[in-house]
Amino acid sequence: MSDIENAILSLRGESVELPLVHGTEGYSGIDISGISKLGHLSYDNGFQNTASCQSSITFIDGEKGILRHRGYDIVDLVENCSFIEVAYLIVNGYLPTREELAHFSRHLNEHSLIHEDMQHFFTGFPADAHPMAILASMVTSLSSFYSVGNELGDFVETAAKLISKVRTIAAFSYKKSLGEPVVYPRHDLSYCANFLNMMFSSPVRHYVIDPDVVKVLNKLLILHIDHEQNCSTTAVRLIASARGNLYASISAGICALWGPLHGGANQAVIEMLSRIKADGGDVRKYVQMAKDKKDGFRLMGFGHAVYRNYDPRARVCRKMADDLLRKLNLNDPLLDIARELEEIALKDEYFVSRKLYPNIDFYTGILYRAMGIPTNMLTVMFALGRLPGWIAQWKEFYDNEKAKITRPRQIYTGQKHRPFVNIDKR
Ligand code: ACO
Repeated sequence: MSDIENAILSLRGESVELPLVHGTEGYSGIDISGISKLGHLSYDNGFQNTASCQSSITFIDGEKGILRHRGYDIVDLVENCSFIEVAYLIVNGYLPTREELAHFSRHLNEHSLIHEDMQHFFTGFPADAHPMAILASMVTSLSSFYSVGNELGDFVETAAKLISKVRTIAAFSYKKSLGEPVVYPRHDLSYCANFLNMMFSSPVRHYVIDPDVVKVLNKLLILHIDHEQNCSTTAVRLIASARGNLYASISAGICALWGPLHGGANQAVIEMLSRIKADGGDVRKYVQMAKDKKDGFRLMGFGHAVYRNYDPRARVCRKMADDLLRKLNLNDPLLDIARELEEIALKDEYFVSRKLYPNIDFYTGILYRAMGIPTNMLTVMFALGRLPGWIAQWKEFYDNEKAKITRPRQIYTGQKHRPFVNIDKR
């Protein structure tokens, strides 16, 4: 570094001055766009040291375990807001007044149905189709039923439309997987209560909506709402960079989220805990396996690309899991295994030295299970929560006139030029 404004990179007697890019807090960046003057590219495996954009939506300090949305601490938002209130904040940049919130809720109600013709699509999927496959396909399909040209008009309405319809699609896909008739949304219910009712009521079963469960669902969806430039958000921005429409971009985010190293980890955690239980509950054996590099087994729900401290979201979930299970009078043996696993791992040198802590996915599955949500729907729940974040990130990209199409380069490691060999001589 030469001074506080520029960095100087020297290579074999040649040097290039690279300007710094400052944010409001956290890391500054080094603008490496001039680096090719040295005849080289930058190389950053997994982009883990590269800022792909400037963003004003979410701030994370991974060392200290801080997470803020639009300046507000995640814990304050979880304790004081509904999911819809925070969705408004994320999309619009400020907390809504009562009137603005009512207006947003009206839009959510107006757009809560999906076109009846879309219902035929559900029947085309096999009964055991993964709900994330259905969700991604249905969200892409929305672009053939609804205008994709007006996103930059009344964006509050566009956001509400998608947030409301994705909830309906998620609940319908669950009902279809059971072979039960779908339950339509009701205007008299809040967003989360509506979702639970659409999931669990049926013509032969009256579902009693428990306000405590509604509260926990609101909190969980807030905890998922955004997490800056993670894998799925990067996928959303990637499609947006080619001027892909909102639905196509969100569908890409859903596909990226599905992976077990990302949002799919919540399903993988429940499967791992169930496996430990079925195997006699020997937690230490699995901690040992996770440490063995030859084994390939990882503790799911542990570790994070950014946090080198306890994920603040996991802390909230841990407490909520205790409270909800007590309140519902449930005894989930998977929670006992999870607690023991956490306790052992957090004292183990392997995890301590690598700063591996439970992440958001470690306890969320147990909470969703307590609500009656099946394991294969867990990542769908994550997607429901993350949706406002994806929408906001997509909009931020679209509003940035300087945004470029995303087009990373590569270091080529393949064959050098060689003579072509005719098929008869190979
Ligand atoms: N279990 C065992 N070892 C682990 C784990 C884990 N869960 N996570 C990381 N490590 C080890 C790695 O093997 C590596 O060890 P080494 O230094 O001896 O090679 C070291 O810790 C650093 O790990 P990386 O893979 O470099 O960490 P990275 O930041 O690339 O990956 C990730 C982060 C993908 C989340 C990883 O921790 C992981 O696979 N966790 C389990 C899956 C999971 O829970 N994903 C959800 C993340 S939260 C979310 O996306 C919503």
